[in-house]
Amino acid sequence: MAIKPVLRMGDPLLLQPAEPVERFDTPALHTLIKDMQDTMAHLSGAGLAAPQIGESLQVVIFGFEKNPRYPRAQEVPFTVLINPQLTPLSEAIEEDWEGCLSVPGMRGMVPRFAHLRYQGYDQYGNAIDCTVSEFHARVVQHECDHLQGILYPMRIKDFRKFGFTDVLFPGQVMIDD
Ligand code: NI
Repeated sequence: MAIKPVLRMGDPLLLQPAEPVERFDTPALHTLIKDMQDTMAHLSGAGLAAPQIGESLQVVIFGFEKNPRYPRAQEVPFTVLINPQLTPLSEAIEEDWEGCLSVPGMRGMVPRFAHLRYQGYDQYGNAIDCTVSEFHARVVQHECDHLQGILYPMRIKDFRKFGFTDVLFPGQVMIDD
């Protein structure tokens, strides 16, 4: 078990495009994914990208169990996604609040494609091909943005809808991507 420090906005590594994974099912890749899982669980996150713990590789994890404390968020199965390719399936855009473990204590309103196909590989090299919508699609876009060096504040259109979580949503417990 290894909980890693999560880099915070301002660190140049978060702005750097990540390299594709070339070899699957290696001890180094399994260790990276275990560290990401431990770190995400420790921080109660909904997703994490490898660059956030200082590894500039195209690896993301995400997953979210239905929780009565977060009634708006749908369940998302735990997924390891490597070398992802995203394809929007319609022009439809949805806006919703996002947070990020690299931007702690803040929330912003972010437009995302509502319907999305994502392809890639798991840690063993098995192909993944999924079609998702709503919160699931949002989480995938947020995590995969990290692999391009994009943090959610760079997607905000209306900065009046960006602020500190405890001021925007007093008394509520929120999840971070
Ligand atoms: Ni994030």
